[in-house]
Amino acid sequence: MTLRRAHRLNAIALAAFIALHIANHLFIFAGAEAHLATMDRLRLLYRLPGIEHMLVALFAAQIGIGTIMALRQKSRIPWKRAQKISGIVLALFLAQHIIAAIATRMTLADVDTNTYWAAAVVSRAPFSWYFVPYYTAGLIALGVHIAAILRFRPGLHKLAMPTAILSAPAAILIVAGFMGAFAPITLPPPYLAYIDSYWRVTD
Ligand code: HEM
Repeated sequence: MTLRRAHRLNAIALAAFIALHIANHLFIFAGAEAHLATMDRLRLLYRLPGIEHMLVALFAAQIGIGTIMALRQKSRIPWKRAQKISGIVLALFLAQHIIAAIATRMTLADVDTNTYWAAAVVSRAPFSWYFVPYYTAGLIALGVHIAAILRFRPGLHKLAMPTAILSAPAAILIVAGFMGAFAPITLPPPYLAYIDSYWRVTD
């Protein structure tokens, strides 16, 4: 099997999780409780024994295969370059995102990697200086990467540019939601203690 085919098949397998995960994040517009309640329901699916291990393994494989493909790709076609750059940004984002979620769960018993875990780092400086651009870049990279897929699909290529362009405001709105822009988010004490343990930020 070629790397390209493996990357494609893997992407199809991961698409369901990615769609549900991003749909989950849209509930942040209705507040942290709505986001958390949706995540609790989705966890019944993706945290099933075996499913989660397979998910993490498939993401790891996708990051590895994608990185090799990006390093080999030398095309000067603008959409191919966009595909390569967005793929590299997505791989860097995902490597950190997945390792952070797993490491937090393994080391901090009272910090559930839920809505408040993400909200904590985008709503408190100095963490927000890094995590606001980090989450925004990850979401935009996903949007541009999907747009590049559409660009090379006959019949769907007209959707590529709108998808790429809309991914920026969508990313900004979602991250703003985790910052409490649409509904204020009160971090529970374990999450304040969590960020305090790295940098004293509470009053
Ligand atoms: C604003 C953007 C994002 C936020 C706030 C966010 C938030 C989260 C949270 C809270 C978790 C932990 C879930 C749990 O413990 O049940 C998580 C896990 C994860 N996220 Fe994201 N995410 C974002 C974007 C993305 C994107 C763009 C992708 C993929 C393209 C992604 C892929 C994953 C994966 C693979 C996991 C690990 C799942 C697991 O270990 O079970 N995330 N994310």
